[in-house]
Amino acid sequence: MSEPSIPSWYIYTGVPGANSDISRLPKAPPWREFKGTPPEDRPDEPPGEDPAHAHRARSYRPAPEAVEQVNAALYLRRPLLVTGRPGTGKSTLAYAVARELGLGPVLYWPITSRATLREGLYHYDPLTRLYAMKGAEEARDDDPGRYIRLGPLGTALLPARYPRVLLIDEIDKSDIDLPNDLLTVFEEGRYEITELARHGSGASTVMTSDGDAVSIRGGRVVCGEFPFVVMTSNGERDFPPAFLRRCVTLELPEPDPERLAEIIRAHLRGLADESEDIVGLFLSRKTQGQLATDQLLHAVYLTHHAARQGVVDRMELAARIMPYLSPSSADDD
Ligand SMILES: Nc1ncnc2c1ncn2[C@@H]1O[C@H](COP(=O)(O)OP(=O)(O)O)[C@@H](O)[C@H]1O
Ligand SMILES: [Mg+2]
Repeated sequence: MSEPSIPSWYIYTGVPGANSDISRLPKAPPWREFKGTPPEDRPDEPPGEDPAHAHRARSYRPAPEAVEQVNAALYLRRPLLVTGRPGTGKSTLAYAVARELGLGPVLYWPITSRATLREGLYHYDPLTRLYAMKGAEEARDDDPGRYIRLGPLGTALLPARYPRVLLIDEIDKSDIDLPNDLLTVFEEGRYEITELARHGSGASTVMTSDGDAVSIRGGRVVCGEFPFVVMTSNGERDFPPAFLRRCVTLELPEPDPERLAEIIRAHLRGLADESEDIVGLFLSRKTQGQLATDQLLHAVYLTHHAARQGVVDRMELAARIMPYLSPSSADDD
């Protein structure tokens, strides 16, 4: 199979096994430069990848338009808004980018109708004792920093020498105000922790959402490199034009038969050839109702192992493990 050549401006390639170098990314355009500088004692390198997501990240086979828009978002320091049907790989894209570029664990913020900007930034709880906090001994006893834990967005905006990856998952489930609230923070690249600001201009040690301890001065956080933000949407709602204008958008296509085979190969190495009939069933059922890629993976795995144990009706078993997620919709082709 001949690989199409990769445009040289790409930082993220989506090629299996690639280890790409984020330091090739040119400096931000002037309107996306932020003034935050990482404290001297912050490590130069991001922490290692979260092993819980290693398989998912490694076996991701992005559509070409996904690779293109990821790179656009990286260059422009803009959040990437990913829309598409359930199971088209919207959330996994964030893990795949973090892995290839060595950007450390993905900061995860699952959105519900109750999610607020404030909870994404930080949580203040005077009743919580942060036993696990590193460096607690040095913190003054009345330091309100002891009761603050940064949220995933608050952590992603800490000044660092590399962009952190932040996944704001299923943003279309949010309250109507959240996208606009986020917009302000994305434009400014900064936020304030009022409980610390009120306390004075000194340094406080607070805990990050991934359990690190960091020092914050005067309650003000300004990012250095804008994080790589992936926001996913199942299309349950439209976003205001002001929001869309400030994002790079990506509509993930339904994978074609070739990509489906590639995805099966990536997840279940030896099973791609024997599962052509299951892929056929998946594609024909898809004309009847909505199905997601992970349902196909389940069917391939299950029919393989069931058939090894004796005679089974593979098609019947596969159909039962791939129930329609919703009835056929008009825009299905
Ligand atoms: N392009 C792809 N390459 C490899 N695996 C994929 C791809 N798209 C989806 N998957 C697999 O399908 C499942 C669903 O993907 P996910 O990212 O959770 O979808 P979404 O967030 O769009 O609902 C995951 O197990 C993922 O590994
Ligand atoms: Mg998802």
